Amino acid sequence: MIPTHASNIEVFSARNDLLITRDGRQLIDLFCGGGSVFLGHANTSINRCLKDQLEKIWNIGVLKSPARAEACEQIERFFPDRYAFAGLYSTGMEVAEFALRVARTMTGKKGVVGFDRSMHGKSMATSCLGWENKLISLPEFRRLPNIPVIPEDEVLDNLLSALRSDQIGAVFVEPLLGTGGGHTASPGFYRQLSDLCLEYGALLIFDEILTGFYRTGTPFMFNEFGISPDIILFGKAMGNGFPVSGIMLDKKYAVEPTMLPSSTFAGNPMAAVVVSGTLQFMQEMDMPGAVVHIQNTINSALESVEHRGIKLRGKGALWVLDFPPAINAFQVAGAVLEEGVLVSPTQNIIRLLPPATIEDDHLARACEVIEEACMNG
Ligand SMILES: Cc1ncc(COP(=O)(O)O)c(C=O)c1O
Repeated sequence: MIPTHASNIEVFSARNDLLITRDGRQLIDLFCGGGSVFLGHANTSINRCLKDQLEKIWNIGVLKSPARAEACEQIERFFPDRYAFAGLYSTGMEVAEFALRVARTMTGKKGVVGFDRSMHGKSMATSCLGWENKLISLPEFRRLPNIPVIPEDEVLDNLLSALRSDQIGAVFVEPLLGTGGGHTASPGFYRQLSDLCLEYGALLIFDEILTGFYRTGTPFMFNEFGISPDIILFGKAMGNGFPVSGIMLDKKYAVEPTMLPSSTFAGNPMAAVVVSGTLQFMQEMDMPGAVVHIQNTINSALESVEHRGIKLRGKGALWVLDFPPAINAFQVAGAVLEEGVLVSPTQNIIRLLPPATIEDDHLARACEVIEEACMNG
């Protein structure tokens, strides 16, 4: 097992925003399975859907099921009419891989562009789109410099040169860099990027696997920018911790069998009922209100850490603390854990991914602990 600041924690059970360890400690969970558990652990409404399905059928391969039909219908409600749901898969990496297939089939062009510090998955192909730890280089994959290292107009200039010189069929974008420091660009940037893709015949693939389904306040970030990506990827929050992901395609692209082949667990009825249960729960909750409340709490409770040179960036229920070299994010995360709060450090940042259902007093307590650890770190 990879050692982390929390290697000696063994979680026994969980309820909403709390993890209960084997020795009976309660931890406020601001990691939430990499941001996947957005409506709380062991959510009773979603559990009920799973229990009902458990007795019926688990996996039937490509065969149709009412569970899958219902999930598709629920997902499509979140998107403008121009999109059609193209498939349920199991992980984020898997839908990013399939998006590559769609782009190649539709455009006939092999080149792919991704941007530094983005996360689209850890397979050999998807890691080449932005992750530092890519291990290999693939000849047709171009990873371009990104904000904030260079300004937005330079990012666009570089993209334009790539689109002009290469046969680029796909441009992958993560609209808020979750593991890359919490940076996001202006709406105008995304609009220009989208126009460039359209002009040069490259498919714009928006990876909303982390940001999708209200994580940043709106259902999806592309809605805010007023753009219509060709492909939208989503997962995480949609399954509330159950492994499921999805891909949405502009209806102008007819799905061909080579583009979106099935895989063993794709669209299994267990995953499908979790999706329906989760999306139903979201529709019954005031999600934007809950997320704005989290945003306001985190912003006002943690703005003081900037005095120590720690940058606080993010939106809604997705926040990043970016530490200067003198402060070690893993040590801060360790001190926070001692006080009963689980956060997720990586490189020299800490990600805060609270569930939308977090209790007010738990969020306030977690912020107090984090602030203190940052001040002493
Ligand atoms: C934006 C984004 N895309 C893709 C992925 C990969 O998803 P998975 O770990 O399910 O393969 C992640 C995972 O953290 C992510 O945050």
